[in-house]
Amino acid sequence: MSKTPKPPFSVTTPIYYVNDVPHIGHAYTTIIADALARFNRLQGKDVFFLTGTDEHGQKIEKAASEKGLQPRELADQVVGRIKDLWRELNISHDFFIRTTESFHERGVQKIFLKLKEKGDIYKGAYQGWYCVSDENFLAEEVPLEPEGDKICPDCGKRAILVSEECYFFRMSRYQKPLLDFYAQNPDFVRPASRMNEVVSFVRQGLKDLSITRTTVKWGIAVPDDPKHTIYVWFDALHNYLTGAGYDWDLATFEKFWPATVHLIGKDILRFHAIFWPAFLMAAGFPLPRTVFGHGWWLRDEAKMSKSRGNVLDPHIILKTFGPDPLRYFLLREIPVGLDGNFSHEGFLHRVNSDLANDLGNLVHRTLTMIQGYLGGLIEEGGAEQENDRKIREEFEELKKKVAEHFENYAVSRALEEIWVYINAANKYLAENEPWKIAQDISQRKRLSRILYQTAAAIRGVGYLLSPVMPGSSLKIWQSLGEKEPPEKMPYAEFEFEGLKAGSKIQRAKPLFPRVLLEDFLKEEERPALEKKETKMEVISFDEFKRMDLRVGEILKAEKVPGTDKLLKIEVDVGTEKRTMVAGVADTYSPEELIGKKLVVIVNLKPAVIRGIESQAMLLAAEIDGKAIIPFFDRDVPAGAKVK
Ligand code: ME8
Ligand code: MG
Repeated sequence: MSKTPKPPFSVTTPIYYVNDVPHIGHAYTTIIADALARFNRLQGKDVFFLTGTDEHGQKIEKAASEKGLQPRELADQVVGRIKDLWRELNISHDFFIRTTESFHERGVQKIFLKLKEKGDIYKGAYQGWYCVSDENFLAEEVPLEPEGDKICPDCGKRAILVSEECYFFRMSRYQKPLLDFYAQNPDFVRPASRMNEVVSFVRQGLKDLSITRTTVKWGIAVPDDPKHTIYVWFDALHNYLTGAGYDWDLATFEKFWPATVHLIGKDILRFHAIFWPAFLMAAGFPLPRTVFGHGWWLRDEAKMSKSRGNVLDPHIILKTFGPDPLRYFLLREIPVGLDGNFSHEGFLHRVNSDLANDLGNLVHRTLTMIQGYLGGLIEEGGAEQENDRKIREEFEELKKKVAEHFENYAVSRALEEIWVYINAANKYLAENEPWKIAQDISQRKRLSRILYQTAAAIRGVGYLLSPVMPGSSLKIWQSLGEKEPPEKMPYAEFEFEGLKAGSKIQRAKPLFPRVLLEDFLKEEERPALEKKETKMEVISFDEFKRMDLRVGEILKAEKVPGTDKLLKIEVDVGTEKRTMVAGVADTYSPEELIGKKLVVIVNLKPAVIRGIESQAMLLAAEIDGKAIIPFFDRDVPAGAKVK
């Protein structure tokens, strides 16, 4: 085995405001970070997982005074709630930073002074509009409302007018260095589409940034000029340094800075992809490797947010299910970059079908058979046959793919692959029919082999799921008689055949109880559900057969000029080429579609769209306004009938 030490892995979440208790959106970022941290620990890396709270500024000052509390009292209460939630969700952070801690305040002041001495901070006066909810200075271009004030373009709240002496950060100086940096580090902002957004923003020019306030008392004092407090975003972003030990734990800081990845929601991308690297460049620190801006969880198409009051409290779900189904759902349902709609119905569907049915039943059936047919002992079994070898080799492949997806932050893809394998294991059982073989005593060795392969597959799945569902993963391992938890097993050393003959299985309790929607749904969700269920129209098979569905291969694709959503696509449908216009440009670039195979309907009456005759139509799911196309996962000839 190679002895070269692996590079450390350091992951952060945003530090959350303490104006209110956390909701599913905050849980989401923290859960992604946790899964990545746990995966990298399995990889034998030194991991540092940082999270915490953002406690200063006008937003907190205001929220506290509305509740009749001191800001510090409010912060203490909410921090307690946040820490409780992280415990309930099985979050394995290494450090929790609060920006009111003195080591953080000192660190921020020290950096402030350094930049001031360097000439990157200077004194002036600011006049402009400020959004307290986002703690953000509005761009000058935002137009005045008829009432004479301005509305924050990001959150829709009324801004306030600020006019005061302040210190500025010389942001304008960093336009060129930032653009150079982006060009040399195309992976700095992910997903790639977000990088474009950042680059075009910086290209438009950067103005110097006001970084102190005199009208806000609840903040870190400016050194040598204490009537000013430091702007909360300047304060907050530096948590990534002070939380990693800057100026108080040198060994940790040297090991874990720069961060491997800052995970954030796309709402705060500019602060992280523009302000933050500029501050770091100015102070001479190395820059983080990646800022990953994930999508939003929506309710009724609107971002779930404390300010909007449309949030879901994770406790309702945690009480019924414990942490793993929620962790699984949030990570499985959407790719990390996209938005998703959260509904209890969608949640329950996934949990019942993926967890209770596919995985839960596989584990339960297998353990029950080992108990019933083999007296509860894993046996080595007869020689491997073709399909036994296949299920073993497929696991080795799966293990590789899962690692690649995790390294690429594609956790939902990793889970998809694991479920393909779980279904292959279910199929393996169905095809081998151990319940029949068990009737024939002369086939004992064959029976043992089948149950060994299935148990080994389950053990493997349990292992691969441990970053996402640590609790269930441990249960699976214990039920197979494993003495050590999966976390103790290095990824590189995990083997399918590591399941030991002679292990005694534990009686199977259901891993994921099935829960009925009615038993779980809150009153407020019920009407939406009823609407959906009564609207199903039934058609006959003959009616379905009238549709001529074919495999199409995309030959060319280009944007329809003057539109954002439409692509003109040339598709080979076997007998001929057809042109179609499809509203998929939100999701796919023309280049990535070339050569893809998909389902098209070829006998639909042509329609003229934007002056182009569309002679076929592709099939796609519409998720939050974006079309997602099902592509074939095996090679199929263009023109083949789909039925
Ligand atoms: O912005 N969907 O704190 P915050 C997905 N203190 N993620 C969501 C979400 C949703 N509906 N709502 C919130 C702040 N989030 C600053 C950060 S960092 C130096 C300072 C998540 O309490 C997402 O990660 O408003 C988002 O970026 C973060 O919570 C904002 O939390
Ligand atoms: Mg917010």
